[in-house]
Amino acid sequence: MADGDGAARTTSVVEPLLVEQRRFPPSPEFREHAWVKDRTPWEEAERDFEAFWAKHAEAELTWFRKWDRVLEWNAPWAKWFIGGQLNASYNCVDRHAQSWRRTKAAIVWEGEPGDSRVLTYQDLHREVQKFANVLKSLGVQKGDRVSIYMGMVPELPIAMLACARIGAPHSVVFGGFSSDALRDRIQDAEAKVLITQDGAWRRGSIVPLKQLADKALTECPSVEKVVVVRRIGDAAEATMVEGRDYWWHELMATADPVCPAEPLDAEHPLYILYTSGTTGKPKGILHTTGGYLLGVTLTTKWVFDLKDDDYYWCTADIGWVTGHSYIVYGPLSNGATTVMYEGAPDWPEKDRYWDIVEKYRINILYTSPTFIRTAMKWGTEWPAKHDLSSLRLLGTVGEPINPEAWMWYHEHIGHGRCPIVDTWWQTETGMIMITPLPGVVTTKPGSATIPFPGVVADVVDEQGNSCPPNVGGYLVLKRPWPAMLRTFWGDPDRYVKTYWSRFPGIYFTGDGARRDEDGYFWITGRVDDVVNVAGHRLSNIEIESTLVAHPAVAEAAVIGRNDPIKGQAISAFVVLKAGYQPSEDLKHELREWVAEKISPIARPADVFFTADLPKTRSAKIMRRLLRDIAEGRVLGDTTTLTDPAVIAEIKKQYEEREAAE
Ligand code: PRX
Repeated sequence: MADGDGAARTTSVVEPLLVEQRRFPPSPEFREHAWVKDRTPWEEAERDFEAFWAKHAEAELTWFRKWDRVLEWNAPWAKWFIGGQLNASYNCVDRHAQSWRRTKAAIVWEGEPGDSRVLTYQDLHREVQKFANVLKSLGVQKGDRVSIYMGMVPELPIAMLACARIGAPHSVVFGGFSSDALRDRIQDAEAKVLITQDGAWRRGSIVPLKQLADKALTECPSVEKVVVVRRIGDAAEATMVEGRDYWWHELMATADPVCPAEPLDAEHPLYILYTSGTTGKPKGILHTTGGYLLGVTLTTKWVFDLKDDDYYWCTADIGWVTGHSYIVYGPLSNGATTVMYEGAPDWPEKDRYWDIVEKYRINILYTSPTFIRTAMKWGTEWPAKHDLSSLRLLGTVGEPINPEAWMWYHEHIGHGRCPIVDTWWQTETGMIMITPLPGVVTTKPGSATIPFPGVVADVVDEQGNSCPPNVGGYLVLKRPWPAMLRTFWGDPDRYVKTYWSRFPGIYFTGDGARRDEDGYFWITGRVDDVVNVAGHRLSNIEIESTLVAHPAVAEAAVIGRNDPIKGQAISAFVVLKAGYQPSEDLKHELREWVAEKISPIARPADVFFTADLPKTRSAKIMRRLLRDIAEGRVLGDTTTLTDPAVIAEIKKQYEEREAAE
């Protein structure tokens, strides 16, 4: 169990904050051509936020039936566009395939080995309809869940859009997750069908997705059929189970190319996406159709100032929410060209991203602070080799960006010319919530700036009172927004408890923040038991439980410590069972154990063996103290510990390691 160390964290994160003086106002040329040029949307939303969202729902989306009411809000239960009917697949595909965009590139895909594919809206329309018919032929009906465990190949968005077309909520599981993680997510969603691929390319080697899926499926009785995309071929050594498994290309060869989009209620579930929370069990965030699609459509258009002739590239993996909202649904709903890359940024060389920017003449690039810091470390010679003059806007997401990284991005990638949008949001929020609109908002390096029109964010203290300027507190959201999560799949009580119980009627984000005298938000990171490694959310408790499941481990505590590249890195403190001795081999084994059981992204950066863990007298592990040690802070009060000697011992080990490095 964790101590209630969130409060302690929020006060410690407001410590000496350097005052950032640099300001970057939009250039007159950018402003002139931007979708949003002035404060009108904020003013409209302030006057009547329901009318604001309704106006854009009408303008940006195609509805089969108009809604009767915009919002029904019985906190914390929201319904948007009640009585309205639409289909996300229709909005992302059909309406463009039936317009002048028919021959426009919808998805431009770059494979890791250098192969590529372009799907026009017409192509996408055909493929999505065919695969929707394949799903139907496998017995998938409206409301059935479909799990998807794939790498970054075009069949992934095709599969998602096919699910959306027939009203079968998809649950995409990141292809870097282990078979255990996949099993847990399939079981929770009770998926009827799994879509996977034989294997995925990663830095020239093969991730055997089908083999991993087979292992998971031994404990997933709900799954009746499996569809397998052939990406690798024989080298992936995928075996097919007769009567259960089917090759994608074989089913598609005979599929009927016509499958009209099902009119669905605005509140019909669109997808479930699992994310880490403060307990061990991943939670299934549920997003529904109308509000979500409006939120991602409007934010994509305004935040990225997306135009029809742009090549837009978001480097995220579709296995995370960023890919759902800003590779698939947001861009395609706008009729944009969305670029997808299959592989790693340093394969075959450290300039692969810049190579892609040059090759496709990318105009808008959306990536993570971790990647920017990594690219800084690799050196400016890599981007300098490429013509990046096509870029006109840059974005970041997933973690706080430090001003140095922001400035590097601005200078070495944007060449001082491109506005930067630092976008704060979460799996739960579905859409970007705090962000500059690039034609209007002056940016400050390191700040996500101000809430999107219609969004009300605040920084509050323990009692829920607004903090004065520059005082740190909890980041909360005070008004419902269309793309908000509706609940946890199968666990409504936990939904209420997690987000709405700390401050009743107000959404608690789990983040700490401060707001400066201009009302700009500065996000400082999680204040709960969630670690953010390279923009990936992991639960301390899930990693601890995994460590404790190892035969040698009696107890474990996991913290996220500051890391100059990844934002945070995982340190694990482990108490061994009697009969086991600390050793370098065992450290290695435990690190690999976590990588295998959860994912390589959860692999601890360091493992410390200790005779005991620091605990309060009520037996709660004091992670805050461990974090203080790991980050070299002066230790606060340790008098509530049962045995203060424990912490002294751990501190010594840490210092010895530091000295050795
Ligand atoms: O801590 C915040 C951080 O990422 C968390 C959400 O993680 P996830 O649901 O995986 O979604 C990531 C992509 C939207 C937040 O609670 N975070 C996200 N964006 C930012 C950020 N922290 C600081 N600045 C950001 N721009």
